[in-house]
Amino acid sequence: MQSGSLDSIASMVRAAKEIVVFSGAGLSADSGIPTFRDGATGLWNKVDPDEVASIEGFLRNPARVWSWLLQLKKLVDERQPNAGHQALARLQASCRGKQLTVITQNIDGYHSRAGNAPVLEVHGTIHRLRCQQRCGFSANWEESAVEPYPCPRCGAPVRPDLVLFGEMLDEEVFAAAEMRSLTADLFFCVGTSFTVQPAALLPVWAKRAGVPVVEINPHPTSLSAVADYSIRSGASEFFTALGAQIEAQQG
Ligand code: OAD
Repeated sequence: MQSGSLDSIASMVRAAKEIVVFSGAGLSADSGIPTFRDGATGLWNKVDPDEVASIEGFLRNPARVWSWLLQLKKLVDERQPNAGHQALARLQASCRGKQLTVITQNIDGYHSRAGNAPVLEVHGTIHRLRCQQRCGFSANWEESAVEPYPCPRCGAPVRPDLVLFGEMLDEEVFAAAEMRSLTADLFFCVGTSFTVQPAALLPVWAKRAGVPVVEINPHPTSLSAVADYSIRSGASEFFTALGAQIEAQQG
C-alpha cells in the first residue's frame, strides 16, 4: 500500500461528514468465511448457486437450500468478526459529528456484531427466518430448526430471510442504501467483485454523483479503473492501517 494514498485517504475521512462503507464477501475472508467467486475456494465453484441459493431451487427442493444455508450459518456462528470489521467499528466510534453507514452484501451479521450501526443488509441475513408469503412472521434462526417448516401464522413455507437469486431486494433497505450512497462525501468499497446487481450499482451511482470512491481489493475489478483510489490490499490490513494513520494525523 502506498503511504501517500493512505495519508490522503485519512485526510478525506477526517474532512468527511457522511461516509459509506460498502462491503462484500472479501471483508469476511479473514474470518475464515469463503468468498463466492475466488478461485478454488469460492463457494460458487463448489456448488451450483441455482441449486442451493435461488428461489427456483427453494421452491423445487426447500430442504436442500435449507440444509446448505444452515451449514453456512453454523460456520458463521463458529467464526467471528475479524480485524477489518473491528477497525471499521473503531473508525465509527472515533467519528464524532460524522455519519458512518455500512451497506453490506454480506449475510453474516459481522458488522453489527463488531459494533457498527447503522448497517444496511441489502442481501438480508442468515440469522433470521421469515414467511415466504411475507405474512409478517419472522424468527431468529435457531440451529435446532434443521428443516423447513410451515409458517405458524399462515402455513406458507418458512425460509431464511436473505435474498435468493431470482428475487428482488427489500425496497426500503435498498432505497436507504441508494440515498446514503448519493449523499455521502466519501464512499469505500471493500471486498466485492461487483458481479451482483443491483447492489453493484451503488458505487457507480455514488461516483456519478461526484462522491470520491475508494476501492480496497487485492485484485482489480470493473470498478478499479473509475475509482479515485484503488488499493491493492486485504481489508483487515487496510482498515487497521487507516485507523493508525488517522490517529497519527490527529497527533
Ligand atoms: P465475491 O466472491 O464475488 O467477491 C469477493 C471479492 O473479495 C473478490 O473481488 C476478491 O478479490 C475480494 N477479496 C478476497 N479476499 C479479500 C480480502 N482479504 N480483502 C478484501 N477483498 C478481498 O463476493 P461478493 O462481491 O460479495 O449474494 O458477491 C456478491 C454477492 O454474490 C453476495 O452477496 C452473494 C453472492 O451470490 C447473496 O448472498 C444474495
